[in-house]
Amino acid sequence: MFRFGVDYYPEHWPQERWETDARMMQEAGINTVRLAEFAWSYLEPQPDHFDFDWLDRALDILHVHGIQAVLGTPTASPPPWVMATYPDAYRVLPSGQRQTYGNRREYCPNHPGYRERSRIITQAMAEHYANHPAVIGWQIDNEFGDRCYCSTCQAHFHTWLQRKYGSLEALNTAWGTAFWSHVYTEWSQIPVPLETGGAPNPGLALDYDRFMSDSYVRFQQEQIDILRQVCPDHFITHNFMGLHYDRINYFDLAKPLDFVSWDNYPRLAWRLEMNVPAASRAIEHDTMRGLKGKNFWVMEEQSGSGGGQTVGITPRPGEIRLWTYQAIAHGADAILYFRWRTSRFGTEQYWHGVLDHDGQPRRRYREIQSIGMELQRIGDQLAGAETKAQVAIILCYDTRFAFQIQPNHPNFRYPELLAGYYNAFHQRNVSVDIVPPTADLSRYKVVIAPALYILPENVAANLRRYVENGGLLLTTARTGVKDEHNAVVNMPLPGPLTELCGVEVEEYEALPADIDVPLQLSLPGGSSDLATHARLWCDVLHPTTAEVVARYDAQYYMGHPAITLNRVGRGQVLYVGTFGDERLQEALVEWSIATSGLSPALNTPAEVEAVEKWQKDKRLLFLLNHADEAREVILPKEMEDILTGQVQKGRVTLPSKAVMILHDA
Ligand code: GAL
Repeated sequence: MFRFGVDYYPEHWPQERWETDARMMQEAGINTVRLAEFAWSYLEPQPDHFDFDWLDRALDILHVHGIQAVLGTPTASPPPWVMATYPDAYRVLPSGQRQTYGNRREYCPNHPGYRERSRIITQAMAEHYANHPAVIGWQIDNEFGDRCYCSTCQAHFHTWLQRKYGSLEALNTAWGTAFWSHVYTEWSQIPVPLETGGAPNPGLALDYDRFMSDSYVRFQQEQIDILRQVCPDHFITHNFMGLHYDRINYFDLAKPLDFVSWDNYPRLAWRLEMNVPAASRAIEHDTMRGLKGKNFWVMEEQSGSGGGQTVGITPRPGEIRLWTYQAIAHGADAILYFRWRTSRFGTEQYWHGVLDHDGQPRRRYREIQSIGMELQRIGDQLAGAETKAQVAIILCYDTRFAFQIQPNHPNFRYPELLAGYYNAFHQRNVSVDIVPPTADLSRYKVVIAPALYILPENVAANLRRYVENGGLLLTTARTGVKDEHNAVVNMPLPGPLTELCGVEVEEYEALPADIDVPLQLSLPGGSSDLATHARLWCDVLHPTTAEVVARYDAQYYMGHPAITLNRVGRGQVLYVGTFGDERLQEALVEWSIATSGLSPALNTPAEVEAVEKWQKDKRLLFLLNHADEAREVILPKEMEDILTGQVQKGRVTLPSKAVMILHDA
């Protein structure tokens, strides 16, 4: 069954309304809701005094209407009494200031009292709902995140370091504390990287970021342990925040969960931009699919204009449907809209849901209702369908944290580099998996590993194995610069990949953002002498075994190699000594696609996305027109649209925001 639903907050509305809500949901084809993730005050109004009556009633009403529920453990937003009990459970900001009450997610994930209260409420909920017929699973907390710098964290950091390094000698060596005489002689001397300490030792700073990420993973695990034991039949998930969220190693956070969920807001309130590029959403979905290498849920999908102190742009007619099917095309097995009804109160008064403040059904309700009816018909054909990508892009959180600490260039953004390559594949309708550095790469024809700045030997070995087995690897400037302790390697760059790439970096420099260096690119068998540009960074290369495919055309390194290609058995490695402009990334991707014999799902005009998925052996071809105008596509053979049952062939017109899901007729 395809899960279709909303995020529902019955505690915000009088109980007399609940029956109407459930009826209207049922009439919209809704079969699933998420509840209670911010209801701690109502579930445990006083320490150890629980009140589940209201939630029982809400669940019973929903159940009668054929609606099942995912319950959120409510630990993202503690009631005032919890924080009054533990004033030192408030997070400390990098500035050293302690947060105060008034928002949410203000807690320190290491605070023993907060963790205990979290276990108590989780246990009580789990015991109460283990056998409720409407409850199917759990969302832990809500959008984990934000680093804390308090003294509790500092003490836990010391324990974490002791476990990791065993001795202060090992730690001092790994971090290179000889520099500026930072040699630690007691664990208790080790600081947390507060802003008041200035630019920290890179080894310490990276370990702190890993430690904070691990702190959330452990906090989550404490709740998972309870739920697995008390509710063995229920699934467990957490709602992630997509590729753009960068404070937690999401591969680690995803590991113990049954599946990943995430919250998709294509148009945020504080960015008043009408245009939502299809690729900007696609990469987020693909990253979320990549966390566990399997389908995911969208636990919150935008259904109205977002808003805080100001109001955002409302989804245009057809956009909610387009975003829904785009999510499904990229791996969503469930879509829940945020939120059922717009709240009259609180910080998110202007974050609009399916219904407006007055609870009346209007355009957005009707659009969702028609999607609901459609999915009741065809949802079974979509749920569980798989993506079979032959291209992988490596996402490395250690590298990401290290670039947060030292961006290398003030304008360099690691996720933007990934997105540059991703977009070039996306434009050509070639599916991409986003994978961790240690992933099994054997099924991919092309692997893009942009700027693997932190490159431990096991990752280098993984890449070597991939190339030696015939793979095509593309890697870029700032690869292999650091070891796992964030110390610069004691060898030529690209460090442990120097031999594989057949090239050494002779010199490098960061470029002023307004200076692009022209490049003459000439790839074997490709269009010769394409004029592109190096941007932000230039490595001056000295090839050992690699051939030169691009040279700089300006600066003192004019005529020197910028990009090389090394052949290793049947495998090939492109080393791109710059971050490059869009045109360069596109040319490299186009060449990689051609060289490795990949074929696009379909050739389509701009802004029409074509995505392939497989339901067992049956190929589903999603066509999604993101443009504001109609677009034409040409189908190579007769295909049936499962949304309408109509057979399509040849030249087909897709109206603006239209969707087709085709399979061979
Ligand atoms: C999400 C969050 C929701 C709600 C929504 C709109 O990030 O999980 O609780 O705040 O954004 O702001």
